[in-house]
Amino acid sequence: MSRPSPAPPDPAEDDAPAPGGGATITPYRDGPLIVRGDFRLVDQDGSPIDPGRGTVALCRCGKSGIKPFCDGTHKRAGFSAPSAPARPRPAARIPRDGAAPGPDPA
Ligand code: FES
Repeated sequence: MSRPSPAPPDPAEDDAPAPGGGATITPYRDGPLIVRGDFRLVDQDGSPIDPGRGTVALCRCGKSGIKPFCDGTHKRAGFSAPSAPARPRPAARIPRDGAAPGPDPA
């Protein structure tokens, strides 16, 4: 039985930085990735994306209408994912030619 998804983050919620001053990214069970702390959001071309607030929810279900941000659609879509990995991440495979590794096969 899965637990209900948490409410989206409240912008007034604790925005405490990660130890060392970086960002903390929390995969919420059956929900988005919550990013708190000191972070910069950019598209794949490096252009800044205005997060609009200090704490943001990034979609990981793929159903949001405002990607990369979460709009709550994961609840209606029945998205299900644990907060922590269900199994260890396999080691990255580094190609011999030095090219960037491909996506995890998992
Ligand atoms: S995780 Fe919330 S809409 Fe995708």
